[in-house]
Amino acid sequence: MPQYFGQLHTNEAPWSILGAVQGIQQDERHILFKCGDACLRVSVLASNLIRVRMTATGEFLTRRSWAVAQADEQWSIVPFEVREKAEAIEITTEQLCIVVSRNPCRIQCFDSAGQPFAQDADLGMGWRTGAVAGWKQIEADEHFYGFGEPTGLLDQRSKVRTNWTSDALDYGIMTDSMYQTIPFFIALRPGLGYGFFFNTTFWSRFDLGAEQPGVWRMETQGSELDYYIIYGPEPAKILQTYTQLTGQMPLPPRWALGYHQCRWSYESQDVVRKLADEFRQRYIPCDVIHLDIDYMNGYRVFTWSPKRFAHPQELIKELQQDGFKVVTIVDPGVKYEPEADYKVFDEGLKNDYFIRNTNGQLFHGYVWPDKAVFPDFLRPEVQSWWESWQNSLTDIGVAGIWNDMNEPALDDRPFGDPGNKVSFPLDALQGPTDEKTTHAETHNLYGLMMAQASYQAAKKSRPTERSFILTRSGYAGIQRWSAVWTGDNQSLWEHLEMSLPMLCNLGLSGVGFVGADIGGFAGNATAELFARWMQVGILYPLMRGHSALTTAQHEPWVFGDRIEKICREYIELRYQLLPYIYTLFWQAATTGSPILRPLLYDFPNDPKTHTLADQVMLGSSILAAPIYRPGVEHRAVYLPEGCWYDWWSGDTFTGPTHILAHATLERMPLYVRAGAIIPMAPVMQYTDERPVDQMRLRIWRGKGEFTLYEDDGHTFEYQTGAFCTTTYQVITQGQQTIVEISAREGNFAPATREIIVELVGVDEQRFIDDGTAQQLIFNNSQ
Ligand code: GLC
Repeated sequence: MPQYFGQLHTNEAPWSILGAVQGIQQDERHILFKCGDACLRVSVLASNLIRVRMTATGEFLTRRSWAVAQADEQWSIVPFEVREKAEAIEITTEQLCIVVSRNPCRIQCFDSAGQPFAQDADLGMGWRTGAVAGWKQIEADEHFYGFGEPTGLLDQRSKVRTNWTSDALDYGIMTDSMYQTIPFFIALRPGLGYGFFFNTTFWSRFDLGAEQPGVWRMETQGSELDYYIIYGPEPAKILQTYTQLTGQMPLPPRWALGYHQCRWSYESQDVVRKLADEFRQRYIPCDVIHLDIDYMNGYRVFTWSPKRFAHPQELIKELQQDGFKVVTIVDPGVKYEPEADYKVFDEGLKNDYFIRNTNGQLFHGYVWPDKAVFPDFLRPEVQSWWESWQNSLTDIGVAGIWNDMNEPALDDRPFGDPGNKVSFPLDALQGPTDEKTTHAETHNLYGLMMAQASYQAAKKSRPTERSFILTRSGYAGIQRWSAVWTGDNQSLWEHLEMSLPMLCNLGLSGVGFVGADIGGFAGNATAELFARWMQVGILYPLMRGHSALTTAQHEPWVFGDRIEKICREYIELRYQLLPYIYTLFWQAATTGSPILRPLLYDFPNDPKTHTLADQVMLGSSILAAPIYRPGVEHRAVYLPEGCWYDWWSGDTFTGPTHILAHATLERMPLYVRAGAIIPMAPVMQYTDERPVDQMRLRIWRGKGEFTLYEDDGHTFEYQTGAFCTTTYQVITQGQQTIVEISAREGNFAPATREIIVELVGVDEQRFIDDGTAQQLIFNNSQ
């Protein structure tokens, strides 16, 4: 175990427990309960959102929260009523009732039907030296999701989830701390769901009934208990409010939704050029090539290898002409190199931007460039300085930045030796002068702050262009700055399977733009695994293939003709689906809805979906049931209530039902709901190869509606109204199906195009889209 973890969690002294309410004070937003020296404060921020804080000393910290985007005073005042009764005080909003019992002081919440949730268990709230905790009841049939990127299956009930960002190298189903720390979850049972955000950046932990079945416990090494409860009851409502609280993701450029190819490493500019040619010659669509650490000179961040990448600007230009964007990896560890004219180090040292030990000496660890020092990204001046260096990449045309190793990952001896992963000393000071605090409080923020610096740098360097930032580590709110990938997975069937619940849980943690390395990072994929993984990869919001140094090559063509054909067909399908997927990104950016999601998101009242981890939905219309075992060509598929169509054959099924899907290696089972409307673009070799001159609306009989979102795909003009939406509705009545297309709304005019309305299995009709309303009538028996 890394040495610091021992220090983090050794105190087993008995808890002091919050006692009786002795006095109450109230203002327009807060209700304060005095309980001896301790006190509890309930703040009503919205009719479905309350914040609860408890402190043993009676003094609340006055500092801002590092993660919350909308502070208490930024929520508009909502009405609530406080009723003082003999046993308890009742706080009622339009949607909830919060009951605080007087003796002992405990909290319970009720929905408008009187169903309890988030109820304190016997112990309620407590503290001991260096830690605070709270205990709550687990209701019958309650399940727990979110927590960032937990490994294992979807539901985390009866697990322990530790919130401490870690380089989770070699992770598996039992791994606890991961790269991302998101102390947020959704608790769901039929008819009732609520969100819970534990507002602490210190080491914290959720025990979801592992120690005591029926009770879940939160604990943090911060000095006060501070949490938000978000009433749903649906996950969609919870995520909408949660992303209002922690921030919404900006729309990425459309090219970032295409296929990304990565490897550690494409080691020279010639290799990169050849790779790009290979894609174009084989007609396999691809938008992005990632450059891993070997583009640098001796792993010095913000340098280029003079031998292998002698002319990066020319390379990037040539690739651009061929429709490729370049993303470069950026690690936080700056090579410790005094008197070597390495400017990044020299400037950082001169301006005192690197983190120091409490004795004043520079803290160092060992990473790729060997001995390295680490910028304190919490300080605005360090962020600006980092921005200026990052601009040295974007100024020569680098289109996106991939932030890695920012947990931060480091060893206590030369990297590559059997090292010992360490964390910074917990007492090392970080942050701006007036907000200095210890690493114990800021550890979980390192990746978040680096991503913020990176996003802001990209925006400053190209103010009108959207950027693509990718990060391995982050904290709650990371969706504001960056996409996330699930780090170093392995080329194993189990990891293919686990990518679905991991990405779904990220989506349920408010992080929409997520992906796992297709083919697996460590190890060698078999041809069959690679084909199945590429199929699943089209569902990942971030679709990136990647593989590690010393592993076999993992490009789409290396496994022979049959696999290449499968890869091409599925990557093409991804590109065809881009109008649909781009609209899902817009939904995610405006409502917090996950792009890739578990079935429980759309069917929260169907208990069968609550533990279903091996099927997913891409938006609310497409259901996928991937194959994730070798040699398997059949699998059971659960179709919830409603009528469903097989994407490939058009066969219909009436849910709720289980079916046996047949899936040769060429087929990933895909289904659509009756009434689904899926806009599809022509295949292109990269997203902006040409304007969409023809759009196919695939429509399945039934009743449904879809609002397509469009804008220029790369600037920020959508933020000032340059976008448009078109609402399509379908209804089948007797022998007729009617498709209504509303007039286009908004200030953006897409290129002139032909629309083909395909009523699947029936017929198709075409028209030239001039943005006016249309009605098309199909005779179902045609
Ligand atoms: C880390 C990253 C991986 C990258 C490698 C080399 O292991 O997670 O994606 O390829 O470092 O930079």
